[in-house]
Amino acid sequence: MSNLKKLNQIYEGKAKKVFATDSSDFYIVEYKDDATAFNGLKHGTIEGKGVINNKMSNLMFAMLEKNGVKTHFVEQLSDRETVVKAVKIVPLEIIIRNVAAGSFSKRYGVEEGTALKCPTLEFSLKNDALNDPLINDSHIIALGVATEKELEDIKNLAYKVNDVLKEFFAGIGVKLIDFKIEAGRLPDGEIILADEISPDTCRFWDAKTNEKLDKDRFRRDLGGVEEAYQEIFKRINSK
Ligand code: TMP
Repeated sequence: MSNLKKLNQIYEGKAKKVFATDSSDFYIVEYKDDATAFNGLKHGTIEGKGVINNKMSNLMFAMLEKNGVKTHFVEQLSDRETVVKAVKIVPLEIIIRNVAAGSFSKRYGVEEGTALKCPTLEFSLKNDALNDPLINDSHIIALGVATEKELEDIKNLAYKVNDVLKEFFAGIGVKLIDFKIEAGRLPDGEIILADEISPDTCRFWDAKTNEKLDKDRFRRDLGGVEEAYQEIFKRINSK
């Protein structure tokens, strides 16, 4: 894999770049320190974030693979670069919530920190121009965003990821409040886990103090942003 050639950039997102390689089966992703919030309205840099998110995502993907979850992860190339399977991303933000926070708390008037009676699944359509609107199962199928079977696979994937991550983070003194994942289609149509799992895409609260150890520190100007990313990464590596 390490002799794979990095070719032209095919996509630049808010936190990562994706490059083609000399194999049509693989991409190389490169993690940036850039941070945005509120659909790009707020911009900043989180020093060292790209390195932490790259390494942390890879550790999470490897752990999920061990637990039977198929992911796009292939091999870490450097501090910021990773080889992944070339998938077509299903344009959905797949969100699971264990505890009310963020947009859920705001929308439904539920205090942040309120435990939910069951893991709660929610989809947003990935579309910056429309501000990633909430979307339901019926819409997803009607618009052809995913088929009924794919939607079923995506839901099973999301709940399984939640089960594995929740238990893992509990073991390092961290509550997994909520997270966002993305799914991709392999050339044969199989749905696998893609994108990243990091403090950018999850809410992590310290189990004892409820201190926020994630991107909310940046979104809400709470300070100690870099330190929060480092703390999560340190705890993961202590396991
Ligand atoms: P929300 O409460 O703002 O809807 O966020 C739910 C979860 O999704 C939270 O863990 C942060 C993550 N998230 C992303 O990864 N990308 C995004 O663009 C947004 C809005 C949230």
